[in-house]
Amino acid sequence: MNYHKKTLYDVDVKGKKVLLRCDFNVPQDKSTGAITDDKRIRAALPTLRYLLEQDAAVIACSHLGKPKGTVKPELSLRPVAERLSELLGQPVIFAADCVGADATEKAAALRPGEVLLLENLRFDPREEKNDPEFARALAALAGADGLYVSDAFGTVHRAHASTAGVAAYLPAVSGLLIQKELEIMGGALNDPARPFVAILGGAKVSDKIGVINNLLDKADAILIGGGMAYTFLKAKGYGMGTSLLEADRVDYAREMLEKAAEKGVKLLLPVDTAVHTAFENTDAFLTVAADAIPDGYMGLDIGPKTEAMFADTIRSAGTVVWNGPMGVFEFSAFAHGTNAVAEALAASGAVTIVGGGDSAAAVEQLGYAERMTHISTGGGASLEFLEGRELPGVACLLDAEEN
Ligand code: 3PG
Repeated sequence: MNYHKKTLYDVDVKGKKVLLRCDFNVPQDKSTGAITDDKRIRAALPTLRYLLEQDAAVIACSHLGKPKGTVKPELSLRPVAERLSELLGQPVIFAADCVGADATEKAAALRPGEVLLLENLRFDPREEKNDPEFARALAALAGADGLYVSDAFGTVHRAHASTAGVAAYLPAVSGLLIQKELEIMGGALNDPARPFVAILGGAKVSDKIGVINNLLDKADAILIGGGMAYTFLKAKGYGMGTSLLEADRVDYAREMLEKAAEKGVKLLLPVDTAVHTAFENTDAFLTVAADAIPDGYMGLDIGPKTEAMFADTIRSAGTVVWNGPMGVFEFSAFAHGTNAVAEALAASGAVTIVGGGDSAAAVEQLGYAERMTHISTGGGASLEFLEGRELPGVACLLDAEEN
């Protein structure tokens, strides 16, 4: 995929109206609606500040949650407007719709240096359908001389009206967050400091098929933990007790083991595992060898020998990419393996890149965020990036000129 794209530094934004797609899909407290983590709002600040310094008038837009084309007041972006205003230290005007009368009027009246935030794009069913008329109406808010800047890295894997369709109607460039994500993750995939080690975890092999396949062509070592490891161990012929197992993926896991052997990629599976009779948080678990899981027991975390083996590989790495927890880390008893990997990354001198979602949360909870080279703001988007897939929200942007 070509990710050499024009950025907002390559175009004249001075005094222009800019439609800025952000990913303000932030977690909220279920009962109060309060934003529980504003990382994604803060991640958009460099682009916003640059645009405001250049006297652009910024029309920001985003989705929040999955309202599925209907207005769900609990998924309004109004609390995001308030938080954004606090972070920017200036008022953020809020429009109660996206392309309706309120947005149209407020966008028309917007002056250089001002910020307008539109209501949740997914309140309109046309957003996720990538409806051309909806995309055209969004673009029209920026006027004939307007620009589209995409900084919503977390959403670049979606071909929606605001992430892809709109680029047909306005000159489209990337913001500083997308540029940084592409540079760091693209660098790791295409020209990594070696050895290049990938650590993959999470519940299912089926979620990571494309990633494993693509990384087998690029990495020097792949370390597999989490629920998906049990399908690989089964492929080696071990009994898995009642562990999470994707029976229809065992053949695929075997093929991947063979491909790794052919390519000389070290594919490391757990050598020991924490097991228990039920899916619950308990200190009464056993630690057993990976080929000796007793009947009636399920694997819930990697064991200490595996932690040491993984830490050893990480210690000598030049680049490490990590996506997915090593066990059921929401249970304190089975967070040990995930924490051990986070610690090993924090202690390593390698370029360390953490994919979004659970592994990013683990690194942050442990206070190691500052010690990572990069924590991606994308969950699904960073996975698709690692799969080497074309990302519609990047493909639609103007290509950078060759030097
Ligand atoms: C995310 O949180 O991964 C992005 O905001 C994309 O959200 P989606 O999966 O609802 O499209």
